Amino acid sequence: MKKSIIDFRRMAAEGEKIVYLTGYDYLTAKYEERAGVDMILVGDSLGMVTLGHETTYPVTMDDMIAHCSAVRRGAPNTFIVGDMPYMSYQISDEEAVFNAGRFTKESLVDAIKLEGGTDSVCERIKAIADVGILVMGHIGLTPQFAAQMGGYKAQGKSADAAIELVKQAMKIEEAGAAFILVEGVPAVVGKAITEKLSIPVLGIGAGSYTDGQLLIYADMVGYYDDFTPKFVKKYADVGGELLKGFTAYCEEVRSGAFPDDSKHAYVIADEEAAELEKLLKEI
Ligand code: KIV
Repeated sequence: MKKSIIDFRRMAAEGEKIVYLTGYDYLTAKYEERAGVDMILVGDSLGMVTLGHETTYPVTMDDMIAHCSAVRRGAPNTFIVGDMPYMSYQISDEEAVFNAGRFTKESLVDAIKLEGGTDSVCERIKAIADVGILVMGHIGLTPQFAAQMGGYKAQGKSADAAIELVKQAMKIEEAGAAFILVEGVPAVVGKAITEKLSIPVLGIGAGSYTDGQLLIYADMVGYYDDFTPKFVKKYADVGGELLKGFTAYCEEVRSGAFPDDSKHAYVIADEEAAELEKLLKEI
């Protein structure tokens, strides 16, 4: 059964870890639901992982809606979070609410996520939460702010920077967020934020103390190999398996070993084959 915000609050209160993974397409979502993942993030990381962009900046609302809809079809009984892409919420409360509404109406996600802990992001969180949409905040290493951070670097590594993140998290909770995701911070910072907040705190590269863990699925199954962050653990070698299968297929097509007509081809009755041969001679 699909979990709701009530279940996630209870899990966080009782110390039952929330399992969170990204997903971008129908098939992957189907396997994630089968495995028992609690929550799927259709992250704008799909720009890099699935669409081959160098950053997440080019991802559009239409991309997000298409991929969230596919994930919804693959995982009808899993809580899905749609990521607000770059410039879909920064301009005004009105645009933010409009785009969050599009997510909810057109792709049936259960919550939306937006990045940043500034006052204007907190205003957007409040505006979206006020219309009844569940919001997940996201602080720490926030890829949409990569230019300002000088790249994809761990955040909160000094006491001042860490306390600033804790304050941002508290403001996001106050603004009405239902959850917060903390990315790329030392474990002690993930712990401090989790202890200070009463909403569920999810972490990616934020240590073991947060209420749940997120990874980019393509990293943890060994599929995306352009780069792998330090905090990723590999649970499978999907890339290796794909390469094995594709290479064997190339070899067999080239050698003629595939297809084997006794196994991989349609047949017709002998008398139809004989008749066909006759007809072929006549043309
Ligand atoms: O887009 C995404 O997948 C994310 C994660 C990196 C946290 O926001």
